[in-house]
Amino acid sequence: EAIEKGGYEHFMLKEIHEQPRSIQDCFRGRLNLDEGWVGLGGIKDYEKQLTKAKRIIMVACGTSWHAALVGEYLFEDLTRIPVEVEYASEFRYRNPIINEDDIVIAISQSGETADTLAALDLAKSKGATILGICNVVGSSISRVTDAGSYTHAGPEIGVASTKAFTAQVTVLTLMALTIARKKGTIIESEFRKIITELDLIPNKVAKILEKADQLEEIAAAYKDASNALYLGRGNSFPVALEGALKLKEISYIHAEGYPAAEMKHGPIALIDEEMPVFVIATQGPSYEKVVSNIQEVKARKGKIIAVITEGDEQVKEMADHCIEIPDTDENLTPLLTTIPLQLISYYVAVMRGANVDQPRNLAKSVTVE
Ligand code: G6P
Repeated sequence: EAIEKGGYEHFMLKEIHEQPRSIQDCFRGRLNLDEGWVGLGGIKDYEKQLTKAKRIIMVACGTSWHAALVGEYLFEDLTRIPVEVEYASEFRYRNPIINEDDIVIAISQSGETADTLAALDLAKSKGATILGICNVVGSSISRVTDAGSYTHAGPEIGVASTKAFTAQVTVLTLMALTIARKKGTIIESEFRKIITELDLIPNKVAKILEKADQLEEIAAAYKDASNALYLGRGNSFPVALEGALKLKEISYIHAEGYPAAEMKHGPIALIDEEMPVFVIATQGPSYEKVVSNIQEVKARKGKIIAVITEGDEQVKEMADHCIEIPDTDENLTPLLTTIPLQLISYYVAVMRGANVDQPRNLAKSVTVE
């Protein structure tokens, strides 16, 4: 086992550090900067149908459901196709409206999650086209779907998903770009800009991983917290959800992810000097709004740990801790902002003596309802 961990103390830590490589593996052969194209061989025959889709439904559970939420922002922004993101377990039991021209995309690391599989069976029985985004080759979901794309992240052993998530988001990005280009909903210069930035993501992830010491210090400061709040807007909202899930899964600290603007409708009541509030405050259209949300937290003496774009001085003056990440295209920020949150959760769990790779009551793959 020590050999399998490749010198790391836990599989989760190894998998977090593998991300520059796993993201690269995910777009290898699917992205060509010189010729300026992206493509996913597995769904080639369905590209035309995807460009004509009136609606796409994404079904998933857990972390994969968070990847689907990031996918919703990507698809709607780039392809202008309406996307609905569903918990597989809710979707399958509520007599959902499924049309024959709908495309249902299941996202699953293991490809074995019972609820996701059942949701697909239902969609198929109603005549929808079903596609899959799976990590495990030959898994049940990859076999029942009409077509799909693998994430190629390599085996993920830690129960808390890390590299599978960033690979899922990478595939969704490639898929959205492919459809957008074919459909003509993206202009050439914008397309080129995004693929150029996507190609730089593995190096930028590696740069963030170099901040491990700083992230460990932040973890030490909040390891005894009983609660934590994660806030983000736009495509950073799913990142906030995923950040909170990582913390609660492995450290057993109660954590909630919230759209930053919704804070005033509830969670703000919880804020006091004991409450760590993680805020994704990178540059982008909602930056100023997030800055106001940070001020609201500070006015109630909450502690702010902000993920910011390199060089941002405004948030630095307000926050208790700032984690600087390299700038990238707005659509790609989740691939970077997720990384420090994974590492902080990891260090908190280790400091609390928790079983990081096999948290209590959780399973890597949930094959029963
Ligand atoms: C379990 C795992 C999570 C995972 C979820 C969905 O809860 O512990 O890490 O996100 O199942 O799994 P899937 O294999 O379908 O992505």
